[in-house]
Parts: sequence; structure tokens; C-alpha cells
Amino acid sequence: MKLILDTADTTAIRYYNDYLALDGVTTNPTIITKSGKPYVDVLKEIVEILDEDQALYVQAVSEDYEGIVEDAKWLSTLGKKNIYIKIPVTNEGLKAIKTVHKLGIKILATAIYSMDQAYLAMHAGADALAPYVNRMCYYGNGVDEVINMQTIIDNYGYNTEIVAASFKNASQVRELMLNGIGACTVPVDVMAQLFNNENTNNAVKEFTANWEKTYGKKTLR
Ligand code: E4P
Repeated sequence: MKLILDTADTTAIRYYNDYLALDGVTTNPTIITKSGKPYVDVLKEIVEILDEDQALYVQAVSEDYEGIVEDAKWLSTLGKKNIYIKIPVTNEGLKAIKTVHKLGIKILATAIYSMDQAYLAMHAGADALAPYVNRMCYYGNGVDEVINMQTIIDNYGYNTEIVAASFKNASQVRELMLNGIGACTVPVDVMAQLFNNENTNNAVKEFTANWEKTYGKKTLR
């Protein structure tokens, strides 16, 4: 499964990029405003942190068809080869997905709350789909809905990847991993839940204490 960080906090991006094999970073307008910095500066900083293979997912801000297409064209010039333009699956967004796809720009169809939207977006040319797992849980079982989306992709052989988004806890991610979902983008607090395990830290402390007690030093040499 691809593991993506859902934040514009460049300190967190640097930290997790140092420790983990991150596949990319997702942002949305709300996430970028939380950084408190000018949005162009933030985006350029993220582009600098990521290497060529790591994906950056940036969202169009306009709501109308023409504006979304213009946003997509502009964002695709940010200097990142592996960039996906996030387009929310509104009616205008669906129309824009068709056009942006024809321009050869990669698209992550986002703010997906239903299987119908997932199908319409991939059929219009979206390369990836971002269903909002936790937000869908307000209306039903968000995890099951994502698994159903994967079934549609597999049934018809679409070349579309699910980048599941909107997580509130690590168990939602685990359930998707168990069901073979291609990618999850997780916020910093959920990444911390996946990353830290005090039991492992305590096991290592015990190994080191026993080693030191017997050999009088912590190292091998
Ligand atoms: C991805 O970038 C999505 O926009 C994001 O995961 C939405 O998360 P939220 O439901 O916590 O706002």
C-alpha cells in the first residue's frame, strides 16, 4: 500500500520523510491555510522536500468548470513531475475532469462520498480517487464503501487507484490494508499512531540493559 502524508506542515513532512518511505503528500485548501504561510511558498517548499518519484497532490480552488481547468493548468507548472491535481467531484468538477484528463494532467478526484461519484470520476478520466473515509462514516460504513469502490475498479478493469483520505484513527487504515486498498493518505496524528510503538521501544531498552549489564557497554565494538 502506498503511504501518503496528508498535511502542509513542512516540519512534519521533513520528519516523516526522513524516517519513512513516504510515497507523497496530499494537501487541500484547508490544510494549506492551516500552515499560516503564503500558499505558493508552502507548495514550493513541499516540492523541494519531495524527490522526483514522490507524488504531490494539490487541489484546484475554483468551483466553476473554467476556473478548475485554469487552476489545474497553473498548478501543473509548479515544477513537480509527479503532481496530481485534486478536483472535487462536484458537477462542475466532473466536467473539468474530462477536460483536464485530455490535457494529459494527472487527476485525483477528491471529496468522494459515494460509489456513484467514484464511478463517474474514473469514467471521466480520473487517475486516482480520494474517498473521504471518516466523513462517509457519518452516513454509513466508510471503510466498506471504499472496499466497494475497489470492487467496481476490479470488475471493469479501470486503471484507477484509490487514495483513501479523511482518516481519524489508525484502525480505519488497518481495515483498508487488510482489503488491499492501493493507497492511504493520513494526517500527522494518525501517522504517529502507525509509527510509534512503545512496546518495541521498551523491548529495545530491555535488550540494551541486559547487554550493558553483561558486557559493560552499549555497543558491539
Ligand atoms: C485529502 O487531502 C483530504 O482532503 C483530507 O484527507 C480530508 O480530511 P478531513 O476529512 O479530515 O478534512
